[in-house]
Amino acid sequence: MQRIAVFISGSGSNLQALINDCREGHINGDIVLVISNKKNAFGLQRAKDAKIKAIYEKDEAKIIELLQQLQVDVIVLAGYLAILSQDFTTKYANKIINIHPSLIPSFCGKGYYGKHVHQAVLDRGVKISGATVHFVNEVTDGGPIIMQETVPVFVDDDVEDLQKRVLEVEHKLLALALSLYCDGKIEIENGKVRIK
Ligand code: GRF
Repeated sequence: MQRIAVFISGSGSNLQALINDCREGHINGDIVLVISNKKNAFGLQRAKDAKIKAIYEKDEAKIIELLQQLQVDVIVLAGYLAILSQDFTTKYANKIINIHPSLIPSFCGKGYYGKHVHQAVLDRGVKISGATVHFVNEVTDGGPIIMQETVPVFVDDDVEDLQKRVLEVEHKLLALALSLYCDGKIEIENGKVRIK
């Protein structure tokens, strides 16, 4: 069983999807720690309700200490809005997985998070969007792509319509990617991901 830490900053609906899938045995892993950089993130309450250690912490050194104490194998960023240092991403190379609410390399990088992503999608008038699960490296949203799934964008969509449609895909995709990771089915060759 892989020992999983999830980092959040907000409501934690992606976290909840992972909690549910771990509990139902769809993921060969245990969420042993939830870290938030926002004191009142509802995701912390979700973790507490699920009897998972939930910590408000912004200091990377303290976070690393907790990860080591709890022997965490893999970190999932689920709506985590702080940028991790290069030391951190190097220390946990290919062990940090992020969910982004667009089809990387479109609408990603500095400033593209949460609703800003969907607003940019609507402003550009693209006809498909979606979600991307990727490994985290020193480049924001720049790590090897693990999985992607598309959603249609309708001309009458507002940000909330699109966010809801993408979020449904995120929940499924992140849980599936984490499940494959925990089963050792994800390989990286020359910066490209192969799923065994
Ligand atoms: C999601 O849209 C995720 O893609 C983005 O932030 C949002 C987090 O939502 N990174 P939640 O906190 O998991 O509900």
